[in-house]
Amino acid sequence: MKRRFSLVPLFAVSALFLNGANALLQHEKFQPSGDANVLTGRYIVEFTHQDSTYPFAQSLSRTFDNDVQINEQFTHDLFSGLSFYLNDPAPSSVTASSYDDKLQALFDHDHVTSVYPIRAIRRPHLAAKPVHEDGSLAKAISPHHLTQVDRVHKELKHNGKGIVVGIIDSGVDYYHPALGGGFGKGHKVRYGEDLVGDKYDSNEANPIIRPGPTPLDNCGAESKASGHGTHVSGIVAGKADNFTGVAPEAELGMWRVFGCTGSTSNDIVIKALLKAYDIGSDIISLSLGDNSGWSEGPDAVVASRIAKKGTIVVLASGNEGESGAFTVGTPSTGKGVISVASFDNSNNLVYKFKASGLSDSIAYASDASGKFKTGDIVAGDSKVGGTQDACDPSTIPASVKGNYGLIKRGSCAFSDKAENLSKAGAIGVVVYDNAGGEAFGPSAPDAPIPVLGIGQKDGETLLAALKKGKVTLTFDGKLTPVPLATAKTVSSFSSVGASYELDLRPNIGAPGGDIYSTMPRYLGSWGLMSGTSMATPYLSGAIALYLESAKRSGKSIQPSFVLEEFQHYAFKAPAKNGDHNLDSPLRQGAGLIQVYDTLQQKVHITPGQFSFNDTSSTQHKTQTFTIKNYGSETVSYHISNNVSLAVSPYDIATSGYTYIQPINYTTAAAKLRISKKSIKVAPGKSVKVKVSVIPPNTDPKQHIMYGGYVQLSSSNKKVGLDLSIPYFGVVGRQVDLPIYDQDFPYLSSDSEGKVAYEKNETLVFHQHNKTSAAYIVTRFITPTALVQADVIDAKTKKVIGKAIPDQTYLPRNTLNPGEQAQVIRWDGTYLPKSFSLSSPNGIPVSHGTYKLRLKALHVFGNPKSDKDFDSWTSGPIKVIN
Ligand SMILES: *[C@@H]1O[C@H](CO)[C@@H](O)[C@H](O)[C@H]1NC(C)=O
Ligand SMILES: *[C@@H]1O[C@H](CO)[C@@H](O)[C@H](O)[C@H]1NC(C)=O
Ligand SMILES: *[C@@H]1O[C@H](CO)[C@@H](O)[C@H](O)[C@H]1NC(C)=O
Ligand SMILES: *[C@@H]1O[C@H](CO)[C@@H](O)[C@H](O)[C@H]1NC(C)=O
Ligand SMILES: *[C@@H]1O[C@H](CO)[C@@H](O)[C@H](O)[C@H]1NC(C)=O
Ligand SMILES: *[C@@H]1O[C@H](CO)[C@@H](O)[C@H](O)[C@H]1NC(C)=O
Ligand SMILES: *[C@@H]1O[C@H](CO)[C@@H](O)[C@H](O)[C@H]1NC(C)=O
Repeated sequence: MKRRFSLVPLFAVSALFLNGANALLQHEKFQPSGDANVLTGRYIVEFTHQDSTYPFAQSLSRTFDNDVQINEQFTHDLFSGLSFYLNDPAPSSVTASSYDDKLQALFDHDHVTSVYPIRAIRRPHLAAKPVHEDGSLAKAISPHHLTQVDRVHKELKHNGKGIVVGIIDSGVDYYHPALGGGFGKGHKVRYGEDLVGDKYDSNEANPIIRPGPTPLDNCGAESKASGHGTHVSGIVAGKADNFTGVAPEAELGMWRVFGCTGSTSNDIVIKALLKAYDIGSDIISLSLGDNSGWSEGPDAVVASRIAKKGTIVVLASGNEGESGAFTVGTPSTGKGVISVASFDNSNNLVYKFKASGLSDSIAYASDASGKFKTGDIVAGDSKVGGTQDACDPSTIPASVKGNYGLIKRGSCAFSDKAENLSKAGAIGVVVYDNAGGEAFGPSAPDAPIPVLGIGQKDGETLLAALKKGKVTLTFDGKLTPVPLATAKTVSSFSSVGASYELDLRPNIGAPGGDIYSTMPRYLGSWGLMSGTSMATPYLSGAIALYLESAKRSGKSIQPSFVLEEFQHYAFKAPAKNGDHNLDSPLRQGAGLIQVYDTLQQKVHITPGQFSFNDTSSTQHKTQTFTIKNYGSETVSYHISNNVSLAVSPYDIATSGYTYIQPINYTTAAAKLRISKKSIKVAPGKSVKVKVSVIPPNTDPKQHIMYGGYVQLSSSNKKVGLDLSIPYFGVVGRQVDLPIYDQDFPYLSSDSEGKVAYEKNETLVFHQHNKTSAAYIVTRFITPTALVQADVIDAKTKKVIGKAIPDQTYLPRNTLNPGEQAQVIRWDGTYLPKSFSLSSPNGIPVSHGTYKLRLKALHVFGNPKSDKDFDSWTSGPIKVIN
């Protein structure tokens, strides 16, 4: 037996699926989602008819008495169903099996069409920077000049009047003066309700749901609430003397789906979607999602149905960009909805302090801003500038007493450094970066004295100054705008496409990095946040401006048409400012929205984006677009291929098919064969153009994701601007990608996978011991749509049944703690091949020796073809009594 992961102490395993005997998941109507966020014992049932809801609820209550809690009931023409929680059955398997039998019988009813597991949806993690000032900085860091929203307000006088934006989020402090100061008719926040209450957290065993009539976020500073929904609301429609949201006259609805802290769940999100749709929202905005790139969950399905009915649904693409390719999350991968990428603002706000003797003040970041007092600064270590500053109490000079200590970043934790300096009597810590970086916020949550971080250059200047004499620091606690080097490029955190099934996601981008907006009054009223959570309401506001204009001009307001309009005229950003290479559509979609052009231009192209898919089929290699002139003058264009950087998702030589975190770029470019190089389109007329791709000649094993834009360069910019269509494709076949990482799966006797059994070692399994089990530890480097586990008799080599029910739509693992691997528990039972209601539970195997075989379907694989699976067979497992 080998010990595994001794070098990776952070290794954490999430329980993919705990109980092999939970046979109801074998039901043909069950739509399992193998997401690690599945909440066991909680289900959503969908019916053919709305009138099935009440009778089903009654049968459920009759069958399970006090052991069932019916959570939500949906009687809607877009979704009829209900969600319920089953209390844990008593540990005796007899009870468990009768539970399953009863559920099976209920699910067998003809009116039940699908059964889904309830999934937790994590609260978006965002770093908020409260801005304690009077709002005078708001103008300085408004992003509206990046998106032409300033011109739309000023020149076109559109401000979202008559448009309703429904937001699904953590509630809103509608008493904030910039958000209308009240709720209901006559107020900016006109619609909505609280679906959950302050204490709700879907991850708790018994979530406390206390709905309320209004969506007020009144959590209070002590609750650790983030104020997310209030920030999002202000981005759409906030208005104060010095602050203007994107659509300041739009009406808002807010459906609160998060408590003060913790997660929500997909049944609550479905309820909120339907309510937002029912009040007649023109746009529904959701700054939430999870990290699976499949699009088959019930919330994604309901969002798609709403979009099909003509209501625009805008969703965050996710903040997992640092984890590499294929990180755009569901439900933004749903069909017909809009997935939004984040672009960085042009300015950031930073704090600065003054050091006596130095002419320029020094920018810093800190969690403890506001706690710094005037004081002298001295070296915080006798060898200051070394690699161990303040890690060893014996090298801290006595002179730090009553002063700030200056030290370099590195070796030990910021809180240890602070603890050591505090013991020596320092009043605060100034840490400078060790890798040439800029001001950073050192994370030292429980430090006894305040800690701040500055850039390396500033640190060295300060060090030189204090070697010459006394230096005093003064703090004014004010934020100052400073230009960002990454302005108008894709934020580093913004998730990277495509969807697992190679649809182009994200579709488009909006400002989301360092965005200033309203915060609940209990958090100081104003603040900065960063995330695709901010880009999403920004786009929703921009669409409100579009709809207001379209309702006057008679332009189409169909969701796909509206998205296409924004896509054609978006700003295509370079990967890096100063570099001429365009960033990939997999990062920026069509680019950063340009709202004035979108509202004013009269030429339209369908579709707005292309996926040339991978190289396994010829079917997707040629695409056709139609360009239509809605204007009154003839337009003409030269059509060309404007290539972008390609995404290199792997480093095959060193790490195989583990995604590189973050992605790497290459300059590999496709050629396009365009059926017409020059076109003229008369008023009211349309022209069709064919585009065929010749992918770059790279090694198919590298799965390079090339991309670019079909560019239509206008011959007369006064009559019509250039348009472009983002495209991408993959060189290689996705079906060839391995699913398991090297050295996985393996067999283990413990649930954390600490002990790995070799193929020639026998794991002994005591059947009478309910706590012993065999575990398959696996790591998916590629997502998989189907996982099956067979129990094989080691002697006869025959498959006797399934070790667990089939798992579908599993996301890929990442290298991040907690997401690195998954465990499948085998309890010594099997599900017979021909599943029957009379034996719905696992049948214990008889004594003997067995092997487990784990099969995972390749992307785009055919589930009927054995060769499309990655297959692994364990060593022997001896089952004794
Ligand atoms: C607006 O900004 C100006 C400075 O630009 C400042 O003097 C004023 O107090 C601000 N008003 C509000 C209400 O914040
Ligand atoms: C000083 O720093 C070290 C890390 O190098 C840490 O282990 C130790 O706990 C710190 N001492 C105190 C008193 O916190
Ligand atoms: C790409 O091709 C696969 C199979 O060849 C197909 O299942 C998938 O839907 C295609 N993706 C798109 C976006 O067309
Ligand atoms: C490609 O797009 C960039 C950014 O819009 C533009 O500057 C450049 O001129 C375009 N190149 C071609 C060949 O159209
Ligand atoms: C990223 O690409 C560059 C240039 O193609 C290459 O030199 C480098 O090794 C790559 N990095 C990784 C991690 O693959
Ligand atoms: C199992 O095989 C490995 C080599 O693959 C060998 O080193 C080890 O001794 C074997 N263990 C047993 C129990 O046979
Ligand atoms: C049952 O199995 C567990 C886990 O393998 C083990 O820790 C425990 O000692 C076993 N109990 C008995 C009674 O064998």
